[in-house]
Amino acid sequence: MLEPLSFQVNAQPYTEACAPGSSLLSLLRRLGWAGVHAACASGDCGSCTVWLEGEPIHSCLYPAQRIGGHAVTTIEGVAQDGQLSPLQQAFLAHQGFQCGFCTPGMILSAEKLSGLSEADLRLALRGNLCRCTGYQAIVNSILNQPEPSEPVTTGAVGQSIAKQDGPALVTGQPVYTADWSPPGLLHLKVLRSPHAHARIRQIRTDLAKALPGVHAVLTYADVPRRAYTTAGHAEPVPDPLDHFLLDYKVRFVGDRVAAVVAESVAIAEQACQLLEVEYELLPFVLDPELAMNGSSVIIHDEPESQQIYARDRNIAGHVALESGNIAQGFAAADFILEATYTLPAVQHAHLEPHVSTSWLDEDGTLVIRTSTQVPFHCQRILSEILDLPRDKIRVFKAQIGGGFGNKQEVLSEDLCALATLRTGRPVQWEFTRTEEFTATNSRHAMTLRLKTGVKADGTLVAQDLEAIGNTGAYGNHGQTVVFLAGYLPLGLYRCANTRFRGYAVYTNTLPAGAFRGYGATQGSFAMESHLDEIARQLGLDPLELRRKNLIRPGDPIGVGRSEDHFNLIGSYALDECFTKVVQALDYVPGQPPRVEGLRRRGLGFAVSMQGSGLSKVHTAGVRLSLEPEGHFCLKTGAVDVGTGSDTSLRQIAAQILDVSVGDLQLISADTHRTPFDAGSYASSTIYISGQAVNLAAQNLRGQLLNFAAQLWQTPAETLVLAAGAIRSATQQLSLGHLAQLAQAQQQPLVAELAYAADESSLTFAVLGVEVEVDTETGKIQVLRCVQAIDLGTAINPRICRGQAIGGTVMGLGYALSEELWLDQQGRILNPGFRTYRIPTAADVPPIEVILVQKADPYGPLGAKGVGEITTNCIAPAIANAVAHATGVRLSQLPMTPERVWRALNRDPA
Ligand code: FES
Repeated sequence: MLEPLSFQVNAQPYTEACAPGSSLLSLLRRLGWAGVHAACASGDCGSCTVWLEGEPIHSCLYPAQRIGGHAVTTIEGVAQDGQLSPLQQAFLAHQGFQCGFCTPGMILSAEKLSGLSEADLRLALRGNLCRCTGYQAIVNSILNQPEPSEPVTTGAVGQSIAKQDGPALVTGQPVYTADWSPPGLLHLKVLRSPHAHARIRQIRTDLAKALPGVHAVLTYADVPRRAYTTAGHAEPVPDPLDHFLLDYKVRFVGDRVAAVVAESVAIAEQACQLLEVEYELLPFVLDPELAMNGSSVIIHDEPESQQIYARDRNIAGHVALESGNIAQGFAAADFILEATYTLPAVQHAHLEPHVSTSWLDEDGTLVIRTSTQVPFHCQRILSEILDLPRDKIRVFKAQIGGGFGNKQEVLSEDLCALATLRTGRPVQWEFTRTEEFTATNSRHAMTLRLKTGVKADGTLVAQDLEAIGNTGAYGNHGQTVVFLAGYLPLGLYRCANTRFRGYAVYTNTLPAGAFRGYGATQGSFAMESHLDEIARQLGLDPLELRRKNLIRPGDPIGVGRSEDHFNLIGSYALDECFTKVVQALDYVPGQPPRVEGLRRRGLGFAVSMQGSGLSKVHTAGVRLSLEPEGHFCLKTGAVDVGTGSDTSLRQIAAQILDVSVGDLQLISADTHRTPFDAGSYASSTIYISGQAVNLAAQNLRGQLLNFAAQLWQTPAETLVLAAGAIRSATQQLSLGHLAQLAQAQQQPLVAELAYAADESSLTFAVLGVEVEVDTETGKIQVLRCVQAIDLGTAINPRICRGQAIGGTVMGLGYALSEELWLDQQGRILNPGFRTYRIPTAADVPPIEVILVQKADPYGPLGAKGVGEITTNCIAPAIANAVAHATGVRLSQLPMTPERVWRALNRDPA
């Protein structure tokens, strides 16, 4: 019997028994203090920071058994008498968050830091990770630093209105999926494969089932055998159907073997260890080139899988595009460069892990509250694999603690839902940080071979690109990612003779999936490095070479067949982006690198383009109504993944209806309460869901004017809707009064529509960096970074700027430090934040973001997508700056000090 311990949390007394080995973090969450966030369980991220006797500690590392006699303060205890602390207020004023998962820990750490310079503050915050903001908004909040001023606008659009979720985030309200549990909750855990490739001969479950507290054990023998893809894509689904709830075969270290449902996480984990699995080990293949050429291993030999391009060669998907005559193009070239670029698998590292909670409602509806970017796709996939009608499955999201594409997958919802169906009980499945690194998805590791022919003046005459993407054990997103790795970077430049061949190849490694930039990130590194090298070898200015060849309005877009051309140029401000970046960095063509002893400084640039959502297939529904109480209700299936899109969508409606954002109540992303929306991915939310909101608001505006016109028997054209009222020359009617009159006449004032874009407008960006290379150590330091983005209208400039800085810093990690290391069995060797290094506040250089606003004729109120493009440019720009500084070309990421040193010293490995 454990001795109960007495302690205080936020001045409330508790007496609790604490199990040996349990952490203060788990104790606090069990007691309902949801502002203490669990993200790494290893003391590396700071999300679980609390004060112990007034001093910040990582509660995940602190043993619960040592809490007796102590006083703990969590974020919920920082405000006094309902009054937020000055720092909480500063985070609200500066919007020092996006998803907010890191925010309580940031505030609790920063409350104890005062009087520091920015550099010292950044160093002091190294123990608190943020994956969304790029830290600038956080530092601005703590230091109360001024933010860039924006052009003054009169309506809601163009204003940096605060995100609606801010007050909940800075006070630690229970808003995330794992913060709330229905009564009687069970927990699910999965036994994962220790082998890269094996057939499961048998799983003996007796011991696990006999463990007290275990409610169900599920193996491949207990689940429906239906092949599906985990990718949340609109129909017709382009991905191979090659995944099963549980399978008799495992295809990577970390693959699902069996699931246990139990009273607690600890019991479920213990029961997993009691499962006895008999494996027949199979030969495996980790190298995609070997997998498609010469390996006898067939990773998907099961007959149920579908839509695999060539299973005997492990090719999940293939893309072939061609325009002009590639042979004639190269024959006409004065100079030809061939190079290979090698990009690693990297992890999204959103701080909130995958987590789902499922239960059965009173009427038997299966309900899943989950951290997803695609609730409607999730509902469809669950309906197919569980053989339930869609209307008997409700999927909705809570606040999402970051996704970046990794939550465009159905990874936790499926087994969780099945477990509820089997037990009749609510079930929660929350991934550990190790599972995030070893059992979710990565960015596709990719090898790109690019051959380019140019005239002596730098005019492109031929480009031939081959991209081999490692899609890992499953093909989710493989073909579409590889497609964009060629389509976008090649399409950015005019070239009459172009060929692209792309392969998404299965290997016995962690699956790859959607990740911000979606292939364009890999392709941009190859293309932008390549063009820079051509310019260097020809003695041309690299910016001039790009300008000479860049796509311009009116040009055909893309490569090859017309049906692949689903983008267009609406607005085009690429020239202005160049000008702004060149000015900001004081770039002078031909300027030599600066040399100071062993340190060399150089400048580098890169350009990128990205679509705004997916045309035709990506649909968004909206229902917008004037409610009897006089406010508007906006229902949208769009998913705010923490970026602030819920606020931006309300700004669009508020602009059209000429009311304040506060007059719009928003209900979002719930399959049973909101219209269909394809979800948040592909830079679609503002461009497509926002356009649906725009059109619905315009429709409703017309209805309001017509209703008033009927009342007053006057033409609607003579009426004005402004400032929450409709006016004629002689009369005025508030919207509240109008709503009551409409209700009395039983006349609904509601606009409901679905929208799909015919074309997707292209967004452009130019980024420049100055770097310093220490030639003795190989360390690269980015000194300055400027990114200009041609984004159309910035609906909410601060949100756009936050996206840009966050995306740039994510790209910085890709450039310099992030890489999943695999051993010879395909086992990931760095499944945690201590060994997988995402940028900390101290690693981030000054980043200037220039929003180049030129209204797009196709986007809502002129807006284009901005979520992904910001990640693409920084890695090639750094590589180009290193080449400028040192003359050495790096063609492999990340550019670690060791790789740079070896390249400088021509040391092969
Ligand atoms: Fe920091 Fe999302 S806002 S992790």
